[in-house]
Amino acid sequence: MSNDRFINALLRKPVDATPVWMMRQAGRYLPEYRATREKAGDFLTLCKTPELACEVTLQPLERYELDAAILFSDILTIPDAMGLGLSVNEGVGPRFERTIRTEKDVENLSVPDPEDDLGYVMDAVRLIRKELDGSVPLIGFSGSPWTLATYMIEGGSSKDFRQIKTMMYQAPELLHKLLSTITESVISYLNAQIAAGVQTVMVFDTWGGVLTTNDYEAFSLQYMRKIIKALNTGSGDDRIPAILFTKGGGLWLEQIADTGCDGIGLDWSIEIGDAKARVGDRVTLQGNMDPAMLRAPDDRIRQEVKHIIDSFGEGSGHVFNLGHGITPDIDPEKVKVYVDAVHEFSQS
Ligand code: CP3
Repeated sequence: MSNDRFINALLRKPVDATPVWMMRQAGRYLPEYRATREKAGDFLTLCKTPELACEVTLQPLERYELDAAILFSDILTIPDAMGLGLSVNEGVGPRFERTIRTEKDVENLSVPDPEDDLGYVMDAVRLIRKELDGSVPLIGFSGSPWTLATYMIEGGSSKDFRQIKTMMYQAPELLHKLLSTITESVISYLNAQIAAGVQTVMVFDTWGGVLTTNDYEAFSLQYMRKIIKALNTGSGDDRIPAILFTKGGGLWLEQIADTGCDGIGLDWSIEIGDAKARVGDRVTLQGNMDPAMLRAPDDRIRQEVKHIIDSFGEGSGHVFNLGHGITPDIDPEKVKVYVDAVHEFSQS
């Protein structure tokens, strides 16, 4: 690969500068993304048309010196392939026609065949790898079982997680059964992405942070550990690194590192130097600038980037990122300030 900073940082090998990418780097803050989505008609058609998914995956790489590409897709492709009837509308967010609430609902679910029901994702991966032509590595991803279950049970985004928490406390065995089916689906989905060519996998546990410490272990981390163990990642220096990101997971970094993952995604609430002191060089840390900082004056953005790099300190094992996805209101020029500052301040 002509740029292997990102993979090297995940394997804690020396790098010439800290690699950087951005969650939701292909998205609505880019006018060219909005134009392609317009051409597709809607967001889901964009995800399901490999040529267009490939086009938007590459858009941010044309503008910025990013060190990785992330597959353009969504975590909700799995429940969509399970037949829940997904729609994603601007201003409304994701919605499912059918929710999972009863024993019968859970029993009726089956594990999707990734090359068949999710074949459009694998086609996009193959096409993107071809287009990238070894320039930067491609990240594949999935939602965590807990996070996918929140959308499947609530029927969309939620503020208080009322339905899933009711099931968790009234019918924990039923929720475990659902989480097991989702876990099997995630394993086969990520292994198919690896077979199709992704060079790193990331699991987004966006809602793990709403759980108590005990429930985080029982209902989220336990299943992510199973996923890490079942991935066909290979071994040694050729392995496909795996990153776990629990938003709000700063309390549980040691337990997350114990899963055997290669990298931990950090949100912005924790000082990265403190995180490093807790996990040592067992794992790489990915993060963690507040995405809202991209609304600050250029100098303030540069100062924050420098602060995070200095806080991480010496040695490899840092992938620079935002603590969560970039929002649609951000000026694309600010992203250039952020990306360039990471390389400038981290050059060895
Ligand atoms: O990071 C990337 O550039 C890759 C693409 C990507 C998308 N979604 C594209 C997208 C990734 C990695 C995701 C993951 C995802 N999707 C997560 C986990 C990460 C996170 O942000 O916490 C979650 C929780 C979802 C579910 C989902 N899909 C939400 C909450 C939304 C936003 C709804 C809204 O209107 O703001 C989506 C839709 C979505 N996924 C968009 C994009 C670019 C916006 C849709 C559009 O273009 O209209």
